[in-house]
Amino acid sequence: MHIPFETYQEAASFIESQIGSENKPQVAVICGSGLGILADCLTKHYKTLKYDQIPGFVKSTAVGHAGELVFGEINQKRVVCMKGRFHCYEGYDVSLATFPVRVFKLLGVSTLLVTNAAGGLNPDYNVGDLMLFSDHLSLPGIAGVNPLIGPNLDQFGERFIPVSNAYSKDLRERFATIWLQNKEISSRLKLHEGVYGWVLGPSYESRVECRALRSLGCDVVGMSTVPEVVIAKHCGIDTIAISLVTNKAVYNPEPSSIEIAKARLEGKQIEHVAEVHANHEEVLEAANSASKDFSSLVLSFISDLPSL
Ligand code: 6GU
Repeated sequence: MHIPFETYQEAASFIESQIGSENKPQVAVICGSGLGILADCLTKHYKTLKYDQIPGFVKSTAVGHAGELVFGEINQKRVVCMKGRFHCYEGYDVSLATFPVRVFKLLGVSTLLVTNAAGGLNPDYNVGDLMLFSDHLSLPGIAGVNPLIGPNLDQFGERFIPVSNAYSKDLRERFATIWLQNKEISSRLKLHEGVYGWVLGPSYESRVECRALRSLGCDVVGMSTVPEVVIAKHCGIDTIAISLVTNKAVYNPEPSSIEIAKARLEGKQIEHVAEVHANHEEVLEAANSASKDFSSLVLSFISDLPSL
């Protein structure tokens, strides 16, 4: 689906008319599932706009996503927080899911921080850990769900762009520094740097899909972020993306039914191991319990950005 440049302009003009041109944001934060309280980091609040008020925005239907833009300030940087995002699994075309990022660009945003909830694939990752994106695997992108497909909008960027440098090293180093300096939080919240595997969802992965993603180099798996990052890279916004590991992806093969049947026939005791499968409640619960520390880090990170 192709969205013409004028549609982005219309949304940006509407927002500007609502917040005032002196309050246009420089930094955008996209809040992942259960991470909406990141928006509470804003030390000064200008305005909240519901998505359904803004031309071109669609409604976010996912539970744990409020569906509003919150405009304000953190230490003299003007910030917009997107509370709730659009996912392809909601049935939105990927161009609609990434629509806000180009609107942010037109408003003057030069730095983007994207957060999400993700399932851990790397056995060293635990629930509650954070992961800085060093790279991503976009299986849908490779297979044809790339937000840049269609006529190129030259006003935003070039036709062919690299994404091998999509995640700003400078921003990652800054975030790592903030994390290292905040000893209290870093003792509770582990920080990794790794690879995010993007899948469309909404079903969670099968076991062998998890093993496949792992063997392809992914440390976590999730249903968002990559399209927004590709669009941000295209229009020259510096980007950092961070996952909160909210659950461990179910990874190992099941025990063999044949072996179990055999053991039963032989009268052996079978140990019953209760299994936990991925579910949205555990994702929201883990996100909620880590979100305060995560928010503090985001607040310090934005505070310490150089003047924009
Ligand atoms: Cl296990 N998979 C996917 N695709 N997304 C997730 C997740 C798992 N956990 C949180 N988000």
